[in-house]
Parts: sequence; structure tokens; C-alpha cells
Amino acid sequence: MTAVDVEAIELDLLVEAIWRRYGYDFRGYARASLARRVERRLALDGMETMAALQHALLHDASYFRRVMTDLTVTTTEMFRYAPFFRAVREVVAPRLKTYPYVHIWHAGISTGQEVYSMAILLREEGLYDRCRLYATDVNRTALEAAKAGVFPASKLQEYTAAYQAAGGREPFADYFTVAYDKAAIDESLKENIVFAEHNLATDAPFAEMHFVLCRNVLI
Ligand SMILES: C[S@@+](CC[C@H](N)C(=O)[O-])C[C@H]1O[C@@H](n2cnc3c(N)ncnc32)[C@H](O)[C@@H]1O
Repeated sequence: MTAVDVEAIELDLLVEAIWRRYGYDFRGYARASLARRVERRLALDGMETMAALQHALLHDASYFRRVMTDLTVTTTEMFRYAPFFRAVREVVAPRLKTYPYVHIWHAGISTGQEVYSMAILLREEGLYDRCRLYATDVNRTALEAAKAGVFPASKLQEYTAAYQAAGGREPFADYFTVAYDKAAIDESLKENIVFAEHNLATDAPFAEMHFVLCRNVLI
């Protein structure tokens, strides 16, 4: 048996252990990507095998939380892929305006930039006050960051460019309070957002929605 085969077995067992101990199902995730993430965690923690990692996370739930953060890809940004948000503004928003009340589900929000982008867009379209946005993710650490809504101030320039490319015309910095190197999102934009832990692989949908966004999650 080759070393590669042993690693594949160890990765299968690790994923199975996570599923059975914590109920998070990574069994259908792309193996190469998972393997890279696990290898990184092994190197950081000075562990030699995935079996050692499996033992550690089976017996220490707080350690599992850290590994969980490694396993999920949390890359995100505000107004990510601007043409999408431009289409939401031009095509979807007029349809949403025909409803008295609108439910929107952001499934897999990572650290929240996507849902705050939507909140800004909806406010500018005069829709925010009749919307309820459900912002969910399986990664509790990312979700906590999303709730806080505090981003590196150094990102504002890049976010402003994306906002403008998506059709935004207001002074984008007005949506933030900047202090030192942090930019905190305007609290009023959080009012109609419900943040909740939700695992798309195992948890049922929880309400009927008018609009569901599930972007860059199925990777
Ligand atoms: C790359 S981020 C995408 C964030 C945002 N939607 C965007 O496009 O910028 C992927 C997110 O999906 C979440 N995710 C992965 N598997 C999930 C699952 N089974 N249920 C819910 N969220 C999941 C990850 O935790 C991560 O925060």
C-alpha cells in the first residue's frame, strides 16, 4: 500500500469522525481541497498524521472549532462579482418591490460582506424596511465575525470600487464608522438581518423565501 493511499484512508476516517462526533458533513466535499486544508493545520500544530488530528478533535470540542474554521473556505468581499449585484439592482429589486414583505436567505455568508452588500443595495432601492434577511453559515466563528460587522479599514477602497461597479452612487464610506484600522458597518443595516448557524448538508430549510443566494458555497 502506498503512502498516498494511507493518507486517503486517514482523510476519510477524519471526515467520518467529524460527522459522527459533531454532525458536520464534509463527506461530499472536494477531497483535494480538504486535504490541503488539513495538511496546513497539521503543519501549524506540529502534528505528523491525520490520525493524530482526528484524536485531538474527537476529544476536544474547542480544538475542533479551530479545525472547522480551517476546513471551510471563508473568502468573501463586499459586492463580490459586481455584475451580480448590478443585476440584483436592475432586475431582481423591481420584482421584489411587487411584494409587501420580502424574505431573503443568504446561505453561506462567511464573515457577512455579502449580506451587508445586499442590505445597502436594498436600502438604496427603498426596500430594506420591508425585507427580512436570513444570514446563515455552518462556521460559527465566521458567523460571529459577520454579526460584529467590523472589517479592515484597508479594504474600504476595494469595497468602494466594487460598490460603484455594482451601480452604487452614494458615498460608500457613509455606511461605516472608521476607527483606527477598523471599519464598522452602520448598526441600522443589521436591524433586519437574522444571523443563524445552519448546515446546508444536514439542516432543513426553515421558511419560504422570495430570494435565495448561495454563492461560492458548493465548492
Ligand atoms: C467562500 S465562502 C462564500 C461567502 C459568500 N457567499 C460569498 O460568495 O462571498 C463559503 C461559505 O460557505 C460556508 N459553508 C460551507 N459548507 C457549508 C454548509 N454545509 N452549510 C452552510 N454553510 C457552508 C463556509 O463556512 C463559508 O463561510
